[in-house]
Amino acid sequence: MPLKKTIDFSYEVFENISQLSSEEAELLRKAEEILLKAYAPYSRFRVGAAIRLTDGSVVTGNNQENIAYPSGLCAERVALFHLMSQRPDAIIESIAIAANPLDFELSHIISPCGSCRQALLEYELRMERPIQVILGSSKGEIIKVPSVRSLLPLSFEEAKLKKS
Ligand code: THU
Repeated sequence: MPLKKTIDFSYEVFENISQLSSEEAELLRKAEEILLKAYAPYSRFRVGAAIRLTDGSVVTGNNQENIAYPSGLCAERVALFHLMSQRPDAIIESIAIAANPLDFELSHIISPCGSCRQALLEYELRMERPIQVILGSSKGEIIKVPSVRSLLPLSFEEAKLKKS
């Protein structure tokens, strides 16, 4: 019989934005603000990301689409790559992600795609510090995930590239 193993993680669920700390609430609001400037004419699905650094500064981004669909980029990576290109020594504390499609009301919380999880994990491992992930809306439920690693179990890591 093979050995069975389980990977699980805990996350927090908040009924509404008033239950977040003022910094967390502000970060989520900034993600919602920046999604309004998303360039998403093809999917009409606007996403915003706001990254908070340990020094309290905030960097935002939104999804940027392209007529050649795969050439577009998610909000999370737009914000993340911009930040890390400008401030390679930045230490990230948390990221808030919000979505607001143009044609319908979201009925559930969206969470980052696999590629964004992978990109975020790179910096989480490099910084040796968990990045909190805040998902949801100022008008509804919010969840807080303690780290990117918990969203990407059994991930591909640098150590695995090295000869042992
Ligand atoms: N998108 C993001 O920006 N972030 C996510 O976490 C998921 C998806 C974007 C990509 C595309 O522009 C649109 O949402 C629809 O997939």
